Amino acid sequence: MKSVWKSSGLEARFRFLMTGSRMIEQSRVLAHFCGNRNLMKAEESRVPLPEGSVSPRAQSLPAASHIVPQSDPRHACFFHIRRYGSAPGHSRVVKDRRFAELKDVDIAHFRQILGDKGVVVDSDELKVANTDWMNKYEGHSQLLLRPRTTQQVSEILQYCYAGRLAVVPQGGNTGLVGGSVPVFDEVILNLGAMNKILNFDEASGILVCEAGCILESLDNYVGSRGYVMPLDLGAKGSCQIGGNVSTNAGGLRLLRYGSLHGNVLGLEVVLADGTVLDLLGTLRKDNTGYDLKQLFIGGEGTLGVVTKVSIITPPKLASTNVAFLACEDYVSCQKTFAQAKLQLGEILSAFEFLDRYALDVVLKHLDGTRDPLPDSKQHFYLLVETTGSNQLHDKEKLDAFLESAIEQGLITDGAVAQDISQAASFWKVREGVAEAMGKGGAVYKYDLSIPLKDLYTLVEDMRSRLKDSATVVGYGHMGDGNLHLNIMAPKYDNELLAQIEPYVYEWTAAAKGSISAEHGLGFMKAKAIHYSKSTAAVQVMEGFKKLLDPRGILNPYKVLPSPSESHVISEAT
Ligand code: FAD
Ligand code: MLT
Ligand code: ZN
Repeated sequence: MKSVWKSSGLEARFRFLMTGSRMIEQSRVLAHFCGNRNLMKAEESRVPLPEGSVSPRAQSLPAASHIVPQSDPRHACFFHIRRYGSAPGHSRVVKDRRFAELKDVDIAHFRQILGDKGVVVDSDELKVANTDWMNKYEGHSQLLLRPRTTQQVSEILQYCYAGRLAVVPQGGNTGLVGGSVPVFDEVILNLGAMNKILNFDEASGILVCEAGCILESLDNYVGSRGYVMPLDLGAKGSCQIGGNVSTNAGGLRLLRYGSLHGNVLGLEVVLADGTVLDLLGTLRKDNTGYDLKQLFIGGEGTLGVVTKVSIITPPKLASTNVAFLACEDYVSCQKTFAQAKLQLGEILSAFEFLDRYALDVVLKHLDGTRDPLPDSKQHFYLLVETTGSNQLHDKEKLDAFLESAIEQGLITDGAVAQDISQAASFWKVREGVAEAMGKGGAVYKYDLSIPLKDLYTLVEDMRSRLKDSATVVGYGHMGDGNLHLNIMAPKYDNELLAQIEPYVYEWTAAAKGSISAEHGLGFMKAKAIHYSKSTAAVQVMEGFKKLLDPRGILNPYKVLPSPSESHVISEAT
């Protein structure tokens, strides 16, 4: 194939330089990349692990539905743990008895605010909204509300606050840490019907929209006006901008455009008691007092409900290249990254990595994927993307970078996408890992920031620790120092989990990393916050929570250790 070169031999290298790195018009590439992704939920089925995977037990997976009984559903409860179990010790949480039980009179009141269409009590719809994307967490809320205006959100929260009804804000429900579904019977407040674009300034690229807008729709909207959204993720066809802001989602463009803390210019937020906080500025620079909106970026719905977002979008540039490269070892990946920064400079737009295990899982479980480098079986793969405004300039830079990486022996094999569909197929391999993992068995999922030099050591340490009891997979946003450590096992297993946690958190803390790089803490890691934040920092966070939501009704049991264990919210409030 013309686009693939081999590391050995000058002739092959020359052939690459003659034929490789044809530019791809970005708009077409993006259109292709972003085509309706099928965000399938994990199936509870028997699925063997990929070929070459370690576990010999992987060939016969049980349905692995693991449900821990509840002794008294009002006072103590376990989440239903399905295929992606967390340790029961980590999942157990006591229901806060100060929260009220939902009554018919409450539902009647919400009908007055929203009309019949905005009040969902249908059990099938509730089942979906109660269950998270991974099929790991399941609450048992009896009510889902769909407001269409900020005023309605405010009236709902005012009522819930007065009556102590707990509430879970929900966007596209693609979160991966159990933050978007109820733990018990919290009312689900879904923002999906608030999906209007309010303003787009074509000179500045500043977009103002409602929180329920789907990320992909926004990307299409600004895309047709010469801009792109500053963030992109595999869940873009379902996730909402309000959810993205509330999780401070990272994703595939963070390396280039930075985090939402920089790109979000303003927010409208409704506080727990119904107060509407208008922080919806559209200014790049605004140092008048404390920057309150930052609290809600990554607040995971515990401090307020985001109803509107103002965000700056960068221009869509004319040329994109995507290269898929093979490396023999992790040190070579690191050196390739350093080289890419040096030689590609401002045109480097993504630097992603996956190990051979991840590639195998994708090839095994995702229809329509193929190995970009079928002749090479290496341990590591990199996806390097450049985006720039001058095709000749970008091509020259990419060629020079690839040539020097080959000469230094950093990469052993590689392919540069020759057209849009090839670029899309490379991206599909990387973006598809999450979905593919979900089809491979029970998965323990960790999202960690780790200093680059140590990032893969954790994967190796975990592999030697677990031996053949599980398959340990590493992939992620290498350019951001973000490892996704996924551990696949034939079934959920307490003994295995005890081998993983708290080891993974202790390891990360010792490496001065973070136990949550981009997915948030949600329910899964609320009790593990101390591994990455000091007691003093957690106390300040609790202070903010108390100030903004004194009755603790917004997304209880998430982010911070629950009140019964750590911060007791005064009965008097
Ligand atoms: P939800 O899942 O509905 O909610 C997430 C959290 O935000 C919850 O705590 C919820 O209470 C809160 N919330 C939602 N909306 C609001 C609101 N309007 N106001 C206040 N709180 C709110 N994440 C990344 O960071 N990078 C990735 O690359 C990435 N890739 C993914 C790929 C796949 C296939 C999947 C399934 C998920 C991926 N995620 C990724 C995780 C997830 O998509 C993101 O966290 C996303 O931002 C969640 O948006 P959502 O609308 O689905 O929010
Ligand atoms: C990704 O980078 O693919 C997402 O964050 C999802 C995951 O961690 O699996
Ligand atoms: Zn990610």
